[in-house]
Amino acid sequence: MATKRAKESKKSPLIIIASNRGPFSFTAKEDGEFDYKRGAGGLVTALASVAQDHDVLWVANALSDDDRQWAEKNKKATLVDDTLLKLIVPDLDSYNQFYNVIANPLLWFIQHQMWDSTHNPSITQETWDAWENGYVALNQLFADAIIESIDDPKRPVIILPQDYHLYLVPKMLRDALGDQVQIQPFIHIPWPGPDGWIILPNRIRTEMLEGLLASDRVGFQTKKDAFNFVQTARFYLEEKAKSRGSRNSLDYDGRKVGANTYPISVDVEKLNTLTETTEISLFKNQILALIGDRKMILRADRIEPSKNILRGLEAYKTMLQNHPEHHGRVQFLMLLVPSRLDVDEYHSYLQEIMAASGLINAEFSDGFWEPVRTIVGGNYNRAIAAMQLYDVLLINPIADGMNLVAKEGVLVNQRDGQLVLSENAGAVFELGEAALTVSPYDVHGTAQALHDALTLPPEERATRAQRLKEIVENADITKWFQDQIQDALREMNVEIASKKASTSETSKAKKSADS
Ligand code: G6P
Repeated sequence: MATKRAKESKKSPLIIIASNRGPFSFTAKEDGEFDYKRGAGGLVTALASVAQDHDVLWVANALSDDDRQWAEKNKKATLVDDTLLKLIVPDLDSYNQFYNVIANPLLWFIQHQMWDSTHNPSITQETWDAWENGYVALNQLFADAIIESIDDPKRPVIILPQDYHLYLVPKMLRDALGDQVQIQPFIHIPWPGPDGWIILPNRIRTEMLEGLLASDRVGFQTKKDAFNFVQTARFYLEEKAKSRGSRNSLDYDGRKVGANTYPISVDVEKLNTLTETTEISLFKNQILALIGDRKMILRADRIEPSKNILRGLEAYKTMLQNHPEHHGRVQFLMLLVPSRLDVDEYHSYLQEIMAASGLINAEFSDGFWEPVRTIVGGNYNRAIAAMQLYDVLLINPIADGMNLVAKEGVLVNQRDGQLVLSENAGAVFELGEAALTVSPYDVHGTAQALHDALTLPPEERATRAQRLKEIVENADITKWFQDQIQDALREMNVEIASKKASTSETSKAKKSADS
C-alpha cells in the first residue's frame, strides 16, 4: 500500500463525515437569517455530539426548501454550532429517485430482510433509471463535494461516509484521491448474508460491493454484520475478494480491507443533563397525568415497518387476553414519529397501526381505561421524559442495526423498568444478558415476556435495570467514535489528540493547579 501523506504530517486530522441527513435542519426567518434545530434520526443523534469535539467537516443533503435556501446562501462550508457544514443541493427528481426508490425502500428492505419476494420488489426500468440518475448521481455529488473540500495536501484526512445511502462514495474517492486519504464508511443498519442480496441485479450488487471495498475498513454494528459482509463479498466477487479464513477482513484488489465492529451508542453525559431540564419535567407531568397509577409499557419508534409495531400490538392484545388481571392496571403508550411517508409501505403501515390499536381499545376499553394510547409526532424531549417513567420498554424489531432507543431508555429510566428486546436488534449483543429477549415473530412469546416484565419481583427488576444502565454507561458514543478514529490514525501512523481529549487534558491540568 502506498505511504499515506499523514505519515509525514504533524497536523491534526480533518475528519469528514458524509451522510444523507445532516446535523441541522434550517428554517428561514423573515429577516433573511435562519433558525436551526437538530436533525432527526439515530445517525444524527449519535454523531452530532461527537462532531462538536473534533475538527469535522460534515457534508449532507439539503432536505427542505429552507435547507436549500441556506445552502444557496452558504455555498462554502460554514460553521454552525461548532460544526463546519456543507449542504449539497441535488435536483429534486434525482433526490427522489435516490431516497424514495433506491435507498428506502430497495436497500433498506433488503438489509432488514422485509421483502415478500413472491410479490415484491420488481426491478423495473424505473429502478434502473433511479439507480443511475438518483443513487449513482447523488453519490458522485457527495464525492465531488468531499474532493473539493480537501485543500491542504499536508493535512491527514479521514473520511467517514455514513450508511446505506453512500455505498459508492469510497470508490469514487479512491479513484480521485488514491491512497492519500483514509476512508472508513460505517453502516448503521444490518448487513444480511449472501442470500439476502440475491434480489439485486448483478451489476448493481457488484457496483455496491466494489464501491465499499475501496475503503480501508468498513464499520458495522455487530460481529454478525461484519461476518455477513465478508461472506457476501467473497461469494459474489469470487476470485477478486478473498478472506483466507478471516471473519473481519478481506484481500481485495491488492489491499487489505477491514470489516470491523463498532457498536454505536448514546451520549451518556448529554442525556443525563437533559433529563434534569424543566421541559422534561413538564413532559413527565403530562405523561403521569395520562397513565395515572397504572404500570406503563412504552414503545418509542419511527413509524417504520422494520420496528414490528403491529406484532407488538398483537402481543399486547394476547397478554390482555391471557392475563385479565392486567385490565385497567396497565397502559400501553406508543410514541410514534412519522417517517418516509412518500414510500407506500410506510404510509399504509401508519394506517394499519391506527386500525390495530383502535380495535384493541374497542375490545378492552371499559369507559375509563383506554388500553393503548398513541401519540403521533416527533418530540425527542417528550420521548426521553416517557423513557424515565416506563415499567416495560418494548423493542421488538424484525431487524435493527442497533436500536438506540434501547440504550437511551435503560440509561434514563427511573422505575427499574424492564427491557423486552428482540433478538434481531443489534443492541442484543450488549444488552441481551439483562433484558427479556424475544423472537420478533413470536407474538405468544412476546406476550409472555410483557407479562413477566410487569410481574418480576422488585429485587430482580432492580438488578436487571442496574446492569443495563451500567452496560450503556461503560461504552458511550465517544468510545464508538474514538475507536474508529484511533484505528484510522494507527493505520495512518499519526498520533493526535482530539479537541475533547486536549480540552479534558487542559481541565485536568487546571484542576490540579487549583488543588
Ligand atoms: C436509520 C438509519 C439512519 C437514518 C434514520 C432515519 O436509523 O440508519 O441513517 O438517519 O434511520 O431515517 P431518515 O430516512 O428519516 O433519515
